[in-house]
Amino acid sequence: MAEEIKAGAVPAHVAIIMDGNGRWAKKKGMPRTFGHKQGCKVVEQTVEDAARLGIRYLTVYAFSTENWKRSEEEVGALMQLFRYYMVRLLQVAVKNNVRVRMIGDRRRFPADIIAGIDRLEQETKDATGMTFVIAVNYGGRDEIRRAAIRYGEDIRAGKAQAGESLTEQDFSAYLDTAGMPDPDLLIRTSGELRLSNFLLWQCAYSEIVITDVLWPDFNKEELLKAIDIYNHRNRRYGGV
Ligand code: IPE
Ligand code: IPE
Ligand code: MG
Repeated sequence: MAEEIKAGAVPAHVAIIMDGNGRWAKKKGMPRTFGHKQGCKVVEQTVEDAARLGIRYLTVYAFSTENWKRSEEEVGALMQLFRYYMVRLLQVAVKNNVRVRMIGDRRRFPADIIAGIDRLEQETKDATGMTFVIAVNYGGRDEIRRAAIRYGEDIRAGKAQAGESLTEQDFSAYLDTAGMPDPDLLIRTSGELRLSNFLLWQCAYSEIVITDVLWPDFNKEELLKAIDIYNHRNRRYGGV
């Protein structure tokens, strides 16, 4: 499969809704958190695979604004995993010349996690390879809401003009993804046919590939399959 994907034929921006950790663990008779742990390992591997394939941006959905609804135990376990994997991720990022960026509202996290996120971004900001974007406490609607607030603040500060002159491009600059291209390919694992509040603005014309594979079983072969499907799609953007 790798040989079939010729140089330059990889999408510039791949976004992934990493779903199915809980079901994967349940199938094995294990607690849901076991699935999250395995899911983290797969994230690390996917970052390396994507960087080597020449993908410029990889964005993954790690924790949604709705995921706080889960049990205290599960949310707590996820926070512990963030703590542990942020340190590992820094090593993976440095080794692979990857720049890390977090989107979502980090203010809701404990202080040490916010500090860890800031550090990851700071220490990788000059990397020239792939940009790896992690969506944490991220919701598409919340992102658009926060962008609208910032736009309002700029108007009041005299830094932006109110009214019809605001273009879609201008508004994009207020989103967490400012400066990034929109995803070309959106992959969702574990078969669910919905966006679950992920990148609502940015996925307007993304090609969607859904696989039944559960996230902890995702691997390079699955990534290449999704890219191959993408390469056979006809993107029309409303044209003919
Ligand atoms: C995705 O797996 C990871 C997060 C949302 C944090 P899930 O935890 O949603 O796993 P399922 O969908 O219940 O199997
Ligand atoms: C989406 O998965 C969020 C993440 C992958 C982080 P969910 O498991 O939360 O989505 P729903 O509840 O099935 O829509
Ligand atoms: Mg799920």
